[in-house]
Amino acid sequence: MLKKVAILANGGDVAGFNAVIRGIVKTAENNDIECYGFIDGYNGLLKNNFEKLSTAEEGNAEGILPKGGSIIGSSTNANVFNYKVINENGEVEYKDLSDICIENIKKDEFDCIFALGGDGTQKSARDFFVKGVNIIGVPKTIDNDVACTEITFGYNTAVSVAMEAIDRLHTTGETHHRIMVLEVMGRYAGWIALESAIAGGADVALIPEIPYDINSVASKIKNRQKRGKNFSVVVVAEGAKPLDGEITVAGTRDNGKGVDNTKLGGVGEKVARELEKLTGLEARNTTLGYMQRGGTPTAFDRVLSTKYGTKAMQLALEGKFGTLAVIKNGKLDSVPLEDVVGNNKEIGAVSGNTANSNQRKVTMDDDLVKTARSVGINLGDWE
Ligand code: F6P
Repeated sequence: MLKKVAILANGGDVAGFNAVIRGIVKTAENNDIECYGFIDGYNGLLKNNFEKLSTAEEGNAEGILPKGGSIIGSSTNANVFNYKVINENGEVEYKDLSDICIENIKKDEFDCIFALGGDGTQKSARDFFVKGVNIIGVPKTIDNDVACTEITFGYNTAVSVAMEAIDRLHTTGETHHRIMVLEVMGRYAGWIALESAIAGGADVALIPEIPYDINSVASKIKNRQKRGKNFSVVVVAEGAKPLDGEITVAGTRDNGKGVDNTKLGGVGEKVARELEKLTGLEARNTTLGYMQRGGTPTAFDRVLSTKYGTKAMQLALEGKFGTLAVIKNGKLDSVPLEDVVGNNKEIGAVSGNTANSNQRKVTMDDDLVKTARSVGINLGDWE
């Protein structure tokens, strides 16, 4: 019998966090289960910082379906299995503090923890499960790259924001006869770039999975010029890289040990400068950045997030701990967290969110790749 459960939202925020929280809380309340939220992801679990969640009138989880962000915060640097601490000598050390979290869960008698997050979050969830915690994951990320599910919540909203940007860049590009480059997020996977390019009718989409030849892109643009089209829209994922080249790094971030701490950015500007040289057209870059994460979720994401939230609570009621709520063949389902984590088996060694973690990337036989090619979107190769 479940009496008391808690939710944590972890990793970069997405539209839909609150809709998932609401789905869990409502289903819990309908089953007479108390629901709490740990503040700022795994950091809240470590510091034992939580609050009661309620959808009763004036309750904190009431009216949150359309709200962006997360009412219980989120954290991008909370790998409690490899946590950054400053020792007595003022030096940085990384420690496994997961046992403190487990003590906190036991002390307050939480029967189940829901971990909303991407591959890093699910890696920690799996590690907690191995250590005996009743935990259930819900797959979040705008990048849509969590393994074992067909779609993550937050992704559709990011694609919609990118599509709107493409629409707007089209009209200004056409007016000034320019190449308009749009840099979107997508660290290791190009889903946002690919799908928004199709939705917005862009001419080029460069994704991490296909190292690009800038000459191929230039030739696509020149062919358009020959047909009297003196403007083009080029969508570039932040993790796209040239053939025999590297990803473009803007700086570092402090997301803990064992994760990819590079802050990506700059590939859009780079592509714009190269295309100017190769085509003779003026080029401008726009970096969409955090616009893709903030704000209200689309109808699709509100529904998907609600489905995920209710499914997660259902899994808890059935005692199916150590699983991730997923969409498989278009339907709600669940898979063991072990399958999601895949090759990062060792507890705490890495937290996911590395180039080697078990992410779902764009494959060349994906319908989106075939569709993009069929409508003439250049993918930076010569196919
Ligand atoms: O993982 C999602 C993502 O949006 C990536 O595409 C991006 O590289 C990263 O988050 C940026 O996160 P932050 O700047 O919050 O560390």
